[in-house]
Amino acid sequence: MSNDQLQMLLTQTPEEGFELAVKLAQKGVEITQPSEEIRQMLRPVYSRNADSLIAVSQVVAIHFQTVAAANNYWRM
Ligand code: HEM
Repeated sequence: MSNDQLQMLLTQTPEEGFELAVKLAQKGVEITQPSEEIRQMLRPVYSRNADSLIAVSQVVAIHFQTVAAANNYWRM
């Protein structure tokens, strides 16, 4: 991983790290489905489905593991 990419993963706090994990997950969806119109159409579907929300949580959790590791688990 290049230094630039690692910098991007550095955050001050675990809370900010979690926000970054959500952002990374959303970025993955945007790249996979570039149409804003289609994403808007699908939003009410996944946001009201328990299994979809659990899947979203899992993707965010996986990104959070990466972010946490890159930040050395926010140990000083
Ligand atoms: C909104 C996260 C997957 C379409 C949001 C919001 C979050 C979020 C946190 C609320 C943003 C806000 O109200 O400020 C995620 C994560 C995903 C995911 C973490 C995957 C792991 C998807 C997928 C679609 C989608 C698969 C559709 C293909 C949208 C759209 C909105 C939205 C269109 C905007 C809704 C609005 O304007 O109120 N998403 N999302 N997202 N999501 Fe997702």
